Amino acid sequence: MSSTSGTSGTSGVGRVSDGNSATADTRNDADARRETAVEAALARLDLPAKVALLAGADMWSLPADERIGLGRLVMSDGPAGVRGEQWTPDDPSVALPSPTALAATWDLDLVRRAGRLLAQEARRKGAHVVLAPTVNLHRSPRGGRHFECFSEDPLLTGGIGVALVSGVQDGGVATTPKHFVANDSETERYTVDVRVDERTLRELYLAPFETIVRTARPWGLMAAYNAVNGPSMSEHAELNNAVLREEWGFDGVLVSDWTGARDTVRAALGGLDIAMPGPATVYGDHLVRAVRDGLVPETVVDQLARRVLRLAARVGLLAGAPAAVPAEELPAPIDGEALVRELAARSFVLLRNEGDVLPLDPAPASVALIGAAAAEPRIGGGGSAQVFPTRLVSPLEGLRAALGEGTRLVHALGADPRTFLPPAAFPCTAELLGAQGTLGTAALPGGDLRWLGALPGDVPFAQLTAVRLTGTLNTGATGGTGTTDAARTTGRHQLAVRGVGRFRLEADGEVLFDGTLLPEGEDPAAAFLNPPEHRVELELAADREVAVSLTCTMPEAGGFAGFGLVSFTLGHAAPTVSAEELIEQAVAAATAAEVAVVVVGTTEEVESEGVDRAGLRLPGRQDELVARVAAANPRTVVVVNAGAPVLMPWRESVAAVLLGWFPGQQAGEALADVLLGTVEPGGRLPTTWPAEEADCPVWEVTPTDGRLDYPEGLFIGYRAWQRRAGAAPAYWFGAGRGYTRWSYEGLEARLTEGAAGSTDTLAEVCVRVRNTGDRTGREVVQVYLATDGSDRSRPDRQLAGFAVVEAAPGAVATARITVPRRAVQTWDTTAHAWRTAPGVHTVEAGPDAGYRPLTLALVVPQD
Ligand code: BGC
Repeated sequence: MSSTSGTSGTSGVGRVSDGNSATADTRNDADARRETAVEAALARLDLPAKVALLAGADMWSLPADERIGLGRLVMSDGPAGVRGEQWTPDDPSVALPSPTALAATWDLDLVRRAGRLLAQEARRKGAHVVLAPTVNLHRSPRGGRHFECFSEDPLLTGGIGVALVSGVQDGGVATTPKHFVANDSETERYTVDVRVDERTLRELYLAPFETIVRTARPWGLMAAYNAVNGPSMSEHAELNNAVLREEWGFDGVLVSDWTGARDTVRAALGGLDIAMPGPATVYGDHLVRAVRDGLVPETVVDQLARRVLRLAARVGLLAGAPAAVPAEELPAPIDGEALVRELAARSFVLLRNEGDVLPLDPAPASVALIGAAAAEPRIGGGGSAQVFPTRLVSPLEGLRAALGEGTRLVHALGADPRTFLPPAAFPCTAELLGAQGTLGTAALPGGDLRWLGALPGDVPFAQLTAVRLTGTLNTGATGGTGTTDAARTTGRHQLAVRGVGRFRLEADGEVLFDGTLLPEGEDPAAAFLNPPEHRVELELAADREVAVSLTCTMPEAGGFAGFGLVSFTLGHAAPTVSAEELIEQAVAAATAAEVAVVVVGTTEEVESEGVDRAGLRLPGRQDELVARVAAANPRTVVVVNAGAPVLMPWRESVAAVLLGWFPGQQAGEALADVLLGTVEPGGRLPTTWPAEEADCPVWEVTPTDGRLDYPEGLFIGYRAWQRRAGAAPAYWFGAGRGYTRWSYEGLEARLTEGAAGSTDTLAEVCVRVRNTGDRTGREVVQVYLATDGSDRSRPDRQLAGFAVVEAAPGAVATARITVPRRAVQTWDTTAHAWRTAPGVHTVEAGPDAGYRPLTLALVVPQD
């Protein structure tokens, strides 16, 4: 058969310069003019004015200084959408798939486009800095922010991070890769002292930051809350000044995590440029005094202020300084919804597809769509990464639209794993109350109220004494659980208050609750990350209208903890049948349908910032639901709506397993695209998925006496699994398949010229793969470097490069992969330097870490 070549891909790290020398000259000139403007501005500031640049004026911004033509600089979370200064459903943001999904695309060009979309959103929202990406590692699957990080592998994390940062900065908006460094779990996150050896720190946890800093040159970075081997990261002079700045050449700002700056002198000397949020920080007058008392040299303050001015200049906020990206070079507008849909579909990982049950092509005559997440998917993980979407397409809506009239689609709840009631689905009005009466009102689409940093209508926080949320519960209407059966709206409705503070809940004037809810634990952010709930039950008949009102009295002026935060939820659930009946209904629907699609997933309580996970089982009775549906219908497809690994005890007894992550706001459209085969599931696992909790190489995330040891050293993820006798993971790092098949046909490797010197590149590797199936498809070709096994301190093999290729049926595609020199280097803890391991290394190519059919010896010379 004659073979046409498919598209080839590149590996490793993203492109940051276009290599055009005229453009490079113009940029150098702009850089020089920017630095001159920064120095001129700095020279005009006295000590208090310089210090004023170093701390938040409020929750999200740095102050303007008109005397030097400096504008107000606004920062915003976060990795999966740009919230802006408001955090409210009436100021929504395009919600992207969460970072594990972005990493699962393994596609640097696509992720760069995601970065450009974030920049576009930032500009729309008036933000100059996006507090992203999160490039901590998947050390343990229990890490609460696992969904927010990319991978267990530093090379993949670094590559995706470079692509995202480059994309955002293409749009003239700054990033802050975070959290520098070793913020890999949440328990005692503000204070934990991570004890990690020097080599592990260098080869694993610092590695993605180093790649990003050296390659994408981010304009900012965020210091982690935690300490590393003693000093807190906002005060870590060795890592912040010696490593990050002197060794890697970082010239951006280092901003604290929110409330992470705790000591004036140590933070200033430790290289922390910006203390957030404000206005009360350890900088301000405290820093002016420290300089006057001789504890901090003024030259240090100059250095911090210089970097803040440089950031402002880069984003176009300093008069006389050229912005890093001139207006005429900004990328063309992006269709956010279309890109989110494409990203999601390309991130979905197909882990099993028995008898090619997928794609559903032609469309079946009947489909039973099962699960709470099928009607109300989780589109993102909890915490600061959360945004309110501009639109939300559920799997139910997406499939209904895509399947059309020809397919009978029924939805059954099956099991609802949520332990908190969902926000009321009826429209609400929020009244902002002050001592003299109403200060303003805001319309909300449901019972979720969250204002952070600013209030609607710019009502001053200091005047706010209470907020009253009102709405009409129509018992004939769709309830919060997605129940559409009007008969079931007669019966026991549940209402809930969720939040921290003093609340009064009334229905038709009757007081149902009047009391105070207190946060659990000591995490100050828990009040809005994981607030408590109080529920009441209400017997109601159908077709009734009940006036519901929930009043929250402000605990103190300025909202919770002086942050300017008002956050609470009015929850509602319509009457429903028992848990057992729900499963029976789902089984009946599955039995009657040609295909059953069950959407299972984690909940807000399971995957969120601020808490680590207790375990990896799917919450509620979802495992039982899948097992019983699969027993009833051999064509059962399970879609997993989770940002991090979950156990799937039924995985061998269902026809297909599709990992859908937290897919962002176009969830249902992307799912329909993939299930019906318009698009191939393009994702591959960025992290190994275990079969059992007990097999996980790293489980412990709870510090002992304030310390969290990393005793496993380099052996996390697949590096650990490949040393474990007798325990294989459920799915290896890199695993996943599309709708076609591939054969790995050829491998060549060539040492880069001068590889024994100081170049960053070790070798060029070419992998030829053939599409042996009957559909055009994409493959993520992975290259690993294996040692000869003589040095047991090194992992047996490590990812050394990857590329995405595409080919038509029968065609060959060539993946050209650049292997970085780091792939054969170890950190020498005596010389405190990188050292090449010379000798024979094996280049291996394949579709995942567990299967590498092509191998080749590569002899690496001594440095
Ligand atoms: C998180 C950061 C986030 C910041 C601002 C912190 O609690 O750790 O990732 O950027 O809050 O919301």
